[in-house]
Amino acid sequence: MAISREAAGRHAGRVVMCTGAAQGLGRAMLDAFAAEGARLALIDIDADGLATAQAQLQRVYPAVETICVTASVADDGQVAQAFEAVLAHFGRVDVLLNNAGISMNRPSLELTPADWRRAIDIDLSGVFYCCQQAGRAMQASGGGVILNTASMYGVVAAPERAAYCAAKAGVVALSKSLAVEWAELGIRVNAICPGYIRTALVDSLIERGALDAARISARTPMGRLGTPQDVAGVACFLASDAAAFVTGHAMLADGGWTANGYM
Ligand SMILES: NC(=O)c1ccc[n+]([C@@H]2O[C@H](COP(=O)([O-])OP(=O)(O)OC[C@H]3O[C@@H](n4cnc5c(N)ncnc54)[C@H](O)[C@@H]3O)[C@@H](O)[C@H]2O)c1
Repeated sequence: MAISREAAGRHAGRVVMCTGAAQGLGRAMLDAFAAEGARLALIDIDADGLATAQAQLQRVYPAVETICVTASVADDGQVAQAFEAVLAHFGRVDVLLNNAGISMNRPSLELTPADWRRAIDIDLSGVFYCCQQAGRAMQASGGGVILNTASMYGVVAAPERAAYCAAKAGVVALSKSLAVEWAELGIRVNAICPGYIRTALVDSLIERGALDAARISARTPMGRLGTPQDVAGVACFLASDAAAFVTGHAMLADGGWTANGYM
């Protein structure tokens, strides 16, 4: 019997669960894992977006099994139910892509307590709730990989992003802490720190004038914004056995932005 393109991949048969799966980086990562033969659990707050993403994935990768669960990562009860549903269906989670997140761009003197809580609830607490559920499932099945989408703004700072930077720096520290704690369980935990990547999130900031695409490209040594596929490639590598000794790492995918101390 011929082996399908999907089944031959590095992630053949692995159960990959992704939050923020309906669009953007989550959607691109799922495509990349589908191309490598993974089975997919899509989690998002946007039920219609999930249905569209699932239909697209099934069209391109008919051999890949997918399920969708609508849940907010900011709600620990909904996260627990989402994991229950995924475990009831697949019986295991091999890779968690903890990717759901929002931006929070506002001058700090105007940031409301509600703005602060929203960013921390989704961008940091949501990551922990999903890590904890995945950690329990992976302990039971003998190990796994967790990749938390942080940001280069978890490593360096920018003005008018206090809550976002604090949350993403928290994600980097959380990833290191869990990596150290769960290494003995066979669970690797790493953070991915994208720079500016063209997704709906960044496009909406460019449209409202909060970001200047030409300035970003000029400031980036590689001379462009990233693509979702640039991040998906990093995720597939970090989740693969080629990265078997990599844990507690925060990997930048930013075209050199953070390294650049010149302009
Ligand atoms: N695009 C970039 O330049 C960039 C750079 C650095 C980090 N990031 C991070 O990457 C991740 C994905 O960003 P993106 O650009 O793809 O954004 P996006 O807005 O295109 O997609 C985010 C997805 O998360 C979902 N989501 C939002 N809140 C949720 C919640 N409470 N529960 C479940 N799902 C929820 C949205 O419905 C959406 O489908 C985020 O964590 C973001 O902070 C993005």
